[in-house]
Amino acid sequence: MAIDLSTTIAGVRFPSCFMNAAGALCVTEEELRGLGLSRAGAIVTKSMTIEPRFGNPEPRYYAFPGGSINSMGLPNLGYAAYAKLIPTLKEFGKPVIASVAGLCEPDFVKIATVVNERRPDLIEVNLSCPNIPGKPQIGYDAEDSERVLDQVRGVITVPMGVKLPPYFDPAHHEKMARVIERVGVEFLSLINSVGNGLVVDPERESVAIKPKGGFGGLGGAMIKPVALANVRAFWKLFQGRIPIIGVGGIVNGTDAFEHLLCGASAVQIGTVLVEEGTRAFERLEQELSAVLSRKGYTSPAACRGKLKEL
Ligand code: DHB
Repeated sequence: MAIDLSTTIAGVRFPSCFMNAAGALCVTEEELRGLGLSRAGAIVTKSMTIEPRFGNPEPRYYAFPGGSINSMGLPNLGYAAYAKLIPTLKEFGKPVIASVAGLCEPDFVKIATVVNERRPDLIEVNLSCPNIPGKPQIGYDAEDSERVLDQVRGVITVPMGVKLPPYFDPAHHEKMARVIERVGVEFLSLINSVGNGLVVDPERESVAIKPKGGFGGLGGAMIKPVALANVRAFWKLFQGRIPIIGVGGIVNGTDAFEHLLCGASAVQIGTVLVEEGTRAFERLEQELSAVLSRKGYTSPAACRGKLKEL
């Protein structure tokens, strides 16, 4: 029996708990429409900047058996184009999440203000792009993060979420949790790519991608334990009060189930979506349904956060 995989985040209902991760197949109008036509439970836009951008020089994405590395450099149509598209995208009958980036603090506010007027269902503030030369990830600075989130919260009327980079120390989870609490963030997307990894091709004695001397964000299967740890850490810190979208290393239905057990209410897919295309959504739905049925769970919510500790 197929299980109802719908889920609710910040009062918004998603027909499926699987959606694209910002960046994956969501830059152009055609790609965004493709998500609308697919089984994706939402349409998440590419992180948008003020100006349209071509991004970093190619090759800037490389997939290998354990995952992927990218340094795209925020190629996107610019916020005005995405703002204009939002009403059309909403006609697909699933939530539209606008991913807002910015190259400096005032950009976030300007983009959020204009995009909010087009009523996306939610806004995901991206504090964790690792690939712009000379721009550190805002999410690694709690004070900067708080300032940006406070300002964005002040200008938007739809639920605000934040996409965070992975943290590797409980003190950092705790510090960011206090920021999230104070600002009133309504959902968390955890995690962005594991920034500034390096993939080497020993045959060619070369880096795999061109920008930043080969350094880039890691995604795919290899980052799953890092993603699960961050989902779990924030789930525990908020005792489940702030919904979490799990991102990182979801390749099959069991990976999604693990994210739910750690506390995710929904999941986003990046590398596997780029590698497999939108038919990945059907496969993942079938696989997660099968796992939930086998385990006697009737919905994603039924197993949310239920991870056992020894
Ligand atoms: C890019 C990568 C990211 O991980 C991100 O959050 C935003 C942008 C990029 O390189 O385009």
